[in-house]
Amino acid sequence: MTETALLSVRDLRVAYRTGGGRMVEAVRGVDFDLYPEQTLALVGESGSGKSTLGLGLLRLLPRTGHITGGEVVYRGSDPEGTDVLRMEGSRLRRWRWSEVAMVFQGAMNAFNPVLKVGDQFADTMRAHLPRQRLGKAQVRERSAESLRAVRLEPGQVLDSYPHELSGGMRQRALIALALILEPRVLVLDEPTTALDLLTQRAIVDMLQELRAERGFSMIFISHDLALASELADRVATMYAGRIIESGTTPDLFRAPRHPYTVGLIRAVPPVRAGAVEPVSIPGAPPNLAQLPPGCSFAPRCGHATDACEATDPALRTVEARPAGQPSHEAACLHWESVRLDTAPAAAQDGTPNDAPAKEVAQ
Ligand SMILES: Nc1ncnc2c1ncn2[C@@H]1O[C@H](COP(=O)(O)OP(=O)(O)O)[C@@H](O)[C@H]1O
Ligand SMILES: [Mg+2]
Repeated sequence: MTETALLSVRDLRVAYRTGGGRMVEAVRGVDFDLYPEQTLALVGESGSGKSTLGLGLLRLLPRTGHITGGEVVYRGSDPEGTDVLRMEGSRLRRWRWSEVAMVFQGAMNAFNPVLKVGDQFADTMRAHLPRQRLGKAQVRERSAESLRAVRLEPGQVLDSYPHELSGGMRQRALIALALILEPRVLVLDEPTTALDLLTQRAIVDMLQELRAERGFSMIFISHDLALASELADRVATMYAGRIIESGTTPDLFRAPRHPYTVGLIRAVPPVRAGAVEPVSIPGAPPNLAQLPPGCSFAPRCGHATDACEATDPALRTVEARPAGQPSHEAACLHWESVRLDTAPAAAQDGTPNDAPAKEVAQ
C-alpha cells in the first residue's frame, strides 16, 4: 500500500483525573494509521481504553479526561495534514462531523426524547455548518437523503419521536446523523451491542454497503471480535490502554501471536454444532492505577515467565509485509510459541475451522 494514511496516531496518551487529584492513564501510547476506505477494528474487553481512544481522537473527552501526549494527524483535503491536537474553536467544531464523525457508545438512547428526529438532524447540521445558511427545505432534503442511505423511510422517521422507533431504527438514524455531512472517517463505538443478533447483522451488512457506496473509512470499536472481523480490514487488540497486537484480519484470526488475542478468539461462542466450546479468559483486567511492572497481561497469561513480570514488551513485527504495508505486530516476549491450537468457530466466512495457521514461523 503506497497510499498515505488519512489519519495517523502516534504515541497517543490520555489520562483521567481521579477523585484524589491523581492522573490515571487510560490510553498509554497508541500508534496506528487509518487508510482511505479501510476499516480498522479496535477490540478488547471492557475497560481496555477503546472508548477513551475514540473520544480522544475527536477531542470529545469528558472534563476529567486529558490528552497528555502524542500526535494525531489528519490528512483530508490538505495533504500536509492537520494537527488535530492543536485545532481549536470553530475550526475544530467544523472538522468534527464534516471530516470525522462518531457514533457514541450507548448513544441509541441519547436522542432527545422530546424532540422529533427531524429537528435533531436540523440542529446537528446547523451546529456544524455555522456559516452555511441552509433553508428548511434543504435541511429536510439532506436529512431524508441520509436516512435513505441507511435504508430508512424518511417520511416515517423525520416526524417521529425517538421512542416511536425500534432500537435498530434508532441506531440506523444515528448512523445517518453521523454521515449527514459526508465525513471521510466514521468512528463507531459498540454500535450494535444493545441489539439482537439479526439486527446486528443487518447493521453490519448495511455499513459494509455504505462504505462501498460512499468510500469513507471506519474505526469500528467492539468487544466482539467475531463481529468486528466481518467489517475490518485490520484489527488492533487493546489491553490496559495499549495496542498489544495488530494485523490484517486474516493474520489475527489465523495466527494470533499475543496470548490475549488468542484468549479473545477462544472466547467467541461457536456458531456451528460440534465446534470447540468457548473458553473465557481467566482473571480480570488490571487496575490502571496499579499496573504490574512488566507485561500487564502477565498475571492472566499461561505463557508468562519471570521475564514477563520484569519487562513490559514493546510491539514488534512478527510477520513482515511488503514495503509500505503495515505488518503484523505483537507485544509479547513469547510470540514465537503462541499458537491458536484449537481453532475457534468460523472466524470468517469461507475459513474452515481446521484451516492451518498461516505462515507459522520456525
Ligand atoms: N470519565 C472517566 N473518568 C475516569 N475514568 C474513566 C472515565 N471513563 C473511563 N475511565 C476509565 O478508563 C479506562 C478505559 O475505559 P474505556 O475507555 O471506557 O474502555 P472501553 O471502552 O474499552 O470499555 C477504564 O479503566 C475506565 O474506568
Ligand atoms: Mg467503551
